[in-house]
Amino acid sequence: MKRWLGSVAVSLVLAFDCSAASRVEVEAAKGKALLQSNCGRCHAVSADTESPLKQAPNLWIVLGAWPSERLDTELAEGVGSRHREMPQIQFSDEDITAIYYYLHGEGAEVPRGRQ
Ligand code: HEC
Repeated sequence: MKRWLGSVAVSLVLAFDCSAASRVEVEAAKGKALLQSNCGRCHAVSADTESPLKQAPNLWIVLGAWPSERLDTELAEGVGSRHREMPQIQFSDEDITAIYYYLHGEGAEVPRGRQ
């Protein structure tokens, strides 16, 4: 009986955690997909992976190191414009939020105006 109660408690905790994390998870998955589809042709977009194009740095590392204001301005203005081969993509606010969540996850300080 005690054991049974214990596992019910564990499931409840897990269920609660899932619902609390779901927005972040959904956003993060979208952010990853956005980076993958727009930038993944050349850049690695997750930790510990190699970029398809050697000269292109791993975006998980590069973008992850940027403060949120920089991520905001650069992604909204189209980082790509600086690099000849790179497409110039201007991400929307929602896209940038998703990318932010992908890079920084749940514990991250949510950038101004993005709650
Ligand atoms: C066609 C290939 C290609 C695509 C697609 C591409 N990049 Fe790049 N990117 C590069 C290359 C090559 C470099 C490194 C050479 C350089 O800095 O000019 C680079 C460098 C960068 C850098 C480093 C800039 C710096 O100042 O150090 C950032 C940030 C970046 N890319 C972001 C992006 C983002 C965001 C996307 C998707 C929206 C993207 N790139 C798509 C080829 C690409």
